[in-house]
Amino acid sequence: MGIGRLSDGLAPTPPMGWNSWNRFGAKIDENLVVETAEAMVSSGMRDAGYRYVVIDDGWMAPERDRNGDFLADPGKFPKGMKALSDRIHELGLRFGIYTDAGTKTCQGLPASLGYEFRDARRFAEWGVDYVKVDWCHTEGLGPRALYAKWALALRAARRPIVLSICEWGRARPWEWAGGLGHLWRTSWDIQPEWSSIVTILDRQAELHPFAGPDHWNDPDMLEVGNGDLTDDQSRAHFAMWSMLAAPLMAGNDLRTMTDDVRKILTAPEIVSVDQDRLGRQGRRLRRDGDIDVWIRDLADGRRAVAVFNRGSEPQEVRISVEELGLASRTDVGVRDLWQQADVGVMRREIVITTSAVSATVLGILKQ
Ligand code: GLA
Repeated sequence: MGIGRLSDGLAPTPPMGWNSWNRFGAKIDENLVVETAEAMVSSGMRDAGYRYVVIDDGWMAPERDRNGDFLADPGKFPKGMKALSDRIHELGLRFGIYTDAGTKTCQGLPASLGYEFRDARRFAEWGVDYVKVDWCHTEGLGPRALYAKWALALRAARRPIVLSICEWGRARPWEWAGGLGHLWRTSWDIQPEWSSIVTILDRQAELHPFAGPDHWNDPDMLEVGNGDLTDDQSRAHFAMWSMLAAPLMAGNDLRTMTDDVRKILTAPEIVSVDQDRLGRQGRRLRRDGDIDVWIRDLADGRRAVAVFNRGSEPQEVRISVEELGLASRTDVGVRDLWQQADVGVMRREIVITTSAVSATVLGILKQ
């Protein structure tokens, strides 16, 4: 273990779901989680591929029980975690939970250092399908060894559980986490602000060689529909996360989201780029001022090409077929994956006009 990369089939494509943190912080309870799971079904998100309902920091009681086992906060989760997990499973969804590798969670609640096997066993008893393990209060500890212990603990618990490693990219986890967990954070916490989205995106450009089925880079959960992000910003954020083969963990209030936000999160051809079974993460071909061009190879022989405009002016962008790795003089069929419409055949180069703050995603097929 720890050598090579996982290929256990638990995350053949990047995990999709919802996590409580980005919108609700530690203000979470049973009703919120059940209502969110129900909204995931009624909104069509489950059918679009979203599966995991993940409770982040703030769920535990301030002390462990007298055996040393984890206890859910009885005020927030009066029916307990097993009942909640059963309800989520009844809806055809999967249940995810959070802990921290150190002495306390980032919110100062009980965490798992020294309790890894016990906590993994308890999670398995609760029917947990996904666990996010955070990295607060870990002074002097080595992430590689401690996450390896978590991988062993989950294996010993004898329930298939996705391991989400959250050490914020500090110790270059892409170089070692692929043999331990199914996804690993590559950067600090995302914020619902355009500058945060763009900063994180720029940090992902070199990480594509490290991702693949069952082991994914995680540029952090989605802020689509949160804070001051406009719909254009949310759309561009979502498109670029799909080019990155990022886990798609919605972080908004699914119960009250607008129809526009719902349409972003469920855009079928954008989601299918994210979920492409080849599992090859996109890479940046060029950055030129406000314009980026990214490319991602797809299983059916097409290429997804994203033209990302981070600036506030529309721009015309030209991409030659050579830049896409095709022989000169090739004609290409072009489809707009947001519009779900063929644009036509372009001869030797693609010319598009991007609007301000946008990510156009094209499906390109050699003719
Ligand atoms: C860290 C993580 C976040 C979230 C919070 C919870 O900051 O990176 O994603 O889990 O802790 O306290």
